[in-house]
Amino acid sequence: MNSEIVYLNGQFLPADQARISVFDRGFLFADSVYEVIPYYQGIGFRLQQHLDRLAYSLRAVRIQAEADWVGILDELVQRNGGGNLSVYLQISRGSAGYRTHTYDDSMQPTLFACTSPIRDIYEDGAEQVKGYNVIVTADLRWRRCDIKSTGLLPNILVLQQAREAGADEALLVRDGLLSEGTSSNLFLVRQGVIYTPKRSSEILGGTTRELILELAAEAGIPYQEVDLQPEELDHADEVWVSSSTRGVMPVLSIDGVPVADGLKGPLWQRMFALFTRFQHRLMTGEA
Ligand code: PDD
Repeated sequence: MNSEIVYLNGQFLPADQARISVFDRGFLFADSVYEVIPYYQGIGFRLQQHLDRLAYSLRAVRIQAEADWVGILDELVQRNGGGNLSVYLQISRGSAGYRTHTYDDSMQPTLFACTSPIRDIYEDGAEQVKGYNVIVTADLRWRRCDIKSTGLLPNILVLQQAREAGADEALLVRDGLLSEGTSSNLFLVRQGVIYTPKRSSEILGGTTRELILELAAEAGIPYQEVDLQPEELDHADEVWVSSSTRGVMPVLSIDGVPVADGLKGPLWQRMFALFTRFQHRLMTGEA
């Protein structure tokens, strides 16, 4: 039983009382988009950036859904005790009452949100970040990875492959280029410069990725958005992955081979400190 409060189509109610149709297109076709937004001490981290991306995803798949997202999510977090929570928000195209591939705009979208506890990685400090071991494998996803769709089967299968190999994440390669991780963006550091795959329909425009680049620019750390080949990983001084729930995470080994000396790198330490300061500014209302 889950006594957590969830949001479903205008109502806040215990998770075990929330019901959706078996004909919901999210369930049948993954005809739905989503966001994952961290809240620290009850405050949304980069909330507006997440909502902007949600609007982008909705527009891209032509689901029309309007709501006071900030009001809904803030209230959901409060109803679940505030504090450090990850909010999951999913919007599906709704249901026709039967299974049909086609849709029309008369369908009412299904609006769903729930929360789960997260650690405040920035409060925990850099020492507590354990670092990742990753594998490199083929990117089997569709060609619109810029849309945050719930169709995550390729991501899930590849992540499982990574887990079974004793790794934490998989870096994906398509057409000879690195794209991103199964649920994270990718960064490589060489001679003091940060490199990351440029934005395209091959990757999700990560909110954490964007923040890393903003913080780098502010701190005068050079970066380039480029095409990256898998071989470049062999010569990297540092490799990072990033996501909302994990922040900026150092990669310590790739396919069992240590990245440089296999330790958390100095530029990662610096970026983590910039994140921690940014979060502090956010909490004190300065950012
Ligand atoms: N995933 N790339 C992919 C494929 C992702 O699924 C995610 C996030 C990211 C990072 O985006 P952001 O920095 O905005 O979290 C990149 C979320 C956390 C998830 O699916 O749970």
